Amino acid sequence: MHSFELYHNYEKHEWTLKDIPWDQIDRDVVKPEYIKLARSAVMGECNSVAALHGFLNESSDDYDFAAYASIWGYQEIKHHYAFRTWLSHISEDTGVDDTRVEATREAYPPGITVASTLATNIISELTVCHVYSRLALHVNEPVLKKILSLASQDESRHAREFTYYARRRIERYPAELPSVLETLYVYVSDPEHPVKHPVSVFKGQMLEKDGGETIDDSFTYFMQVDGSNLERLRTIIMNRFSQLTGYKLERPAQIRRALIDAADRIDSSRASALSAPN
Ligand SMILES: [Fe+2]
Ligand SMILES: [Fe+2]
Repeated sequence: MHSFELYHNYEKHEWTLKDIPWDQIDRDVVKPEYIKLARSAVMGECNSVAALHGFLNESSDDYDFAAYASIWGYQEIKHHYAFRTWLSHISEDTGVDDTRVEATREAYPPGITVASTLATNIISELTVCHVYSRLALHVNEPVLKKILSLASQDESRHAREFTYYARRRIERYPAELPSVLETLYVYVSDPEHPVKHPVSVFKGQMLEKDGGETIDDSFTYFMQVDGSNLERLRTIIMNRFSQLTGYKLERPAQIRRALIDAADRIDSSRASALSAPN
């Protein structure tokens, strides 16, 4: 069982909040942007409960993936609490509003297919991995830098694992391949936003209503300090989906062509199955 192997692998990389040197926080270098960044990360990470609920709903016939999703959910909650702990060490005024966190509880709705749900999470993990690792280079406060770096390494492993489960799903259910390409197209084809983040697409408007931080604030800060790197992220995502689907995907037009080809292949295999003699 793959999740069993992963569990052992994850233990080698495991870190806990007690490993973080909280007493080394350098308050003198903390900028208002860092506080906004940490609050925004809390709002992005806390959505993992809604996502875990969605994953379990969609994997009632797949113990292995459900077990992995549970391990993943634990790590995402750890990220939420790591950023939250950092904020609590900065000052009493930088705490997190529980009402906003609790508002994210509702489970994510099922995707068009299970493979599309997994594909959405690949994009989410690659995006957060990239943004955290780049921000870790720009943030001067050493403890926030460490949290960003550790979380980024976890997100990279998450992207790898969701890719594994998406590939396995497509092998078992080839008819779901077009939905994976459709998902990619939704997140990378908008010329004004080279990459959209799934949490922002699903819950951004709801969280924006009260004027507090959302995951978009991390993105905005990332764009300010390292904006040119968004194209690099898009290339990383396209490469991952090329490996996953077997299509060469570098531009949105190629995704559209791959989508048409994948749909045609499914139609012809259905037609030949229907015409085959009993
Ligand atoms: Fe995370
Ligand atoms: Fe993650």
